[in-house]
Amino acid sequence: MTAQHTGESIQTAPSDEAKLGSHTDNGAPAPSDRNSLTLGADGPILLHDVHFLNQMAHFNRERVPERNVHAKGSGAFGTFEATEDVSKYTKAALFQKGSTVEMLARFSTVAGEQGSPDTWRDPRGFALKFYTPEGNYDLVGNNTPVFFIRDTMKFPHFIRSQKRLGGSGLRDNHMQWDFWSLNPESAHQVTYLMGDRGIPKTFRHMNGYGSHTFLWINEAGEKHWVKYHFHSNQGVEGLTGEEATRIAGQDADHHRRDLWDAIEAGDFPSWTLSIQAMPYEDAKTYRFNPFDLTKVWPHSDYPLIKVGTMTLNKNPDNFFAQIEQAAFEPSAVVPGIGFSPDKMLLGRAFAYSDTHRYRIGANYLQLPVNRPRVENLNTYTQDGAMAFEHRGDAPVYAPNSQGRGYADQVGEVEDSWEADGAMVRQAYTLRAEDDDFGQAGTLVREVWDDAQRESFVETVAGHLLGGVKSPVLEKAFDYWKNVDADTGKQIEELVRAGLGGDNPGGMADDAKVVEDPIVETNTQA
Ligand code: HEM
Repeated sequence: MTAQHTGESIQTAPSDEAKLGSHTDNGAPAPSDRNSLTLGADGPILLHDVHFLNQMAHFNRERVPERNVHAKGSGAFGTFEATEDVSKYTKAALFQKGSTVEMLARFSTVAGEQGSPDTWRDPRGFALKFYTPEGNYDLVGNNTPVFFIRDTMKFPHFIRSQKRLGGSGLRDNHMQWDFWSLNPESAHQVTYLMGDRGIPKTFRHMNGYGSHTFLWINEAGEKHWVKYHFHSNQGVEGLTGEEATRIAGQDADHHRRDLWDAIEAGDFPSWTLSIQAMPYEDAKTYRFNPFDLTKVWPHSDYPLIKVGTMTLNKNPDNFFAQIEQAAFEPSAVVPGIGFSPDKMLLGRAFAYSDTHRYRIGANYLQLPVNRPRVENLNTYTQDGAMAFEHRGDAPVYAPNSQGRGYADQVGEVEDSWEADGAMVRQAYTLRAEDDDFGQAGTLVREVWDDAQRESFVETVAGHLLGGVKSPVLEKAFDYWKNVDADTGKQIEELVRAGLGGDNPGGMADDAKVVEDPIVETNTQA
């Protein structure tokens, strides 16, 4: 009989690789990786084909849930070298001049899913894990120095408004603007997003920011409030909406591919880390709340202080194990670095380790990519699914009298700050220059030139034309008029004329201004 099936023809001439064979999950020689066990060539598959069942069952479990946000991303390993003396600000080992530590970086988009195009308009994640001798230090930032909200309580609502409609499963510009216009503290971040840094050319051509204010403590216990800036040594370059839309169709993995190719070619991307440092006491009287994540600190008040260089020089060799299962968490701090009273940062200090336990499993920190590279690691956490780090009968409790140490700090902690007052639910106390629109207006008027302002107006108009309905549309016009009266007027005029720019990831730009009949007739609205 002549062989008609591809599999049959291969069987007649096994290759050298095939002769090596393979193994079942229990390590025995596998019977076949091509033909399941059947009753006769045309009969049903038999239930005791355990090799087939194991293959199938494992395949069915090959994915862990994708990250709830920042699902699409890419990463690489590298080093951070502290080239400057910043010991007057922090005692953290990784920031002492001359120290070099290994690290992992993961860059991402926020709202999209695993397969989303890399070039959709969205902030980019800039997550860093430093494997320091004092424990992992994770700085989980973005490519923008500010954020959409200033209280973690709003985060789930914000993200839901940026993801998909519950019914149709479609992205929806209307709900995005509904959220933004009802939360005017988003103005600064949305201005960034719609500006010419809104879509980076590649991951290599964007800056990274710690965004929050952190606390640095030096050897003498002196404290500074600190903001991190990672400036790209490749330069900062963006894509226009049109370019991004075209690339999204041609190569959804454009940024992932670029990073991989550059590192494979030995063209290692690097970033220079600088900080802004605010003396601890200044925060009490600074003209706006320095812990508000929707604000930047003017460099004229707190100039950049160089710290060192991060270089990415090694691609992952197992994307799933090293990038997909990488677990970044703002709670991972080391001696010499602490949190600040930023309500976003404090909320994030809980959120990430919690999501990792759900997404990866209770023992995610035992995976090689996440495991702290600390000698004699002694966490007292043990057991749980997939645990393999056990130390015989060494005490599993603390304190103990068998020589396995335990921690015993008492009194004021070194990264403390003062707080006072009754327990309340309320926004930050307002200071002289605390507002929602001021810094966004400065960005539009004083930082951008005419060309940048013009393309910004087109981008916003295009986004609004992507299905934003009344009365959210009018609220959006007011939002921009509050940022800058002239710019807001131009946006409204363009939208009324049905003109706007390309918006990758947004709805088609042939959409019209739509009146929502329900809202129009609802006198309660
Ligand atoms: C990822 C929560 C704000 C940057 C995530 C994830 C969660 C989360 C649950 C998924 C983590 C995972 O599954 O591995 C929150 C909450 C926030 C918040 C509750 C509210 C305050 C922010 C801010 C930034 C940020 C302000 C940047 C300044 C990131 C980055 C990732 C991420 C870069 C991806 C990390 C990676 O590459 O694995 N966030 N987030 N998030 N978040 Fe946030």
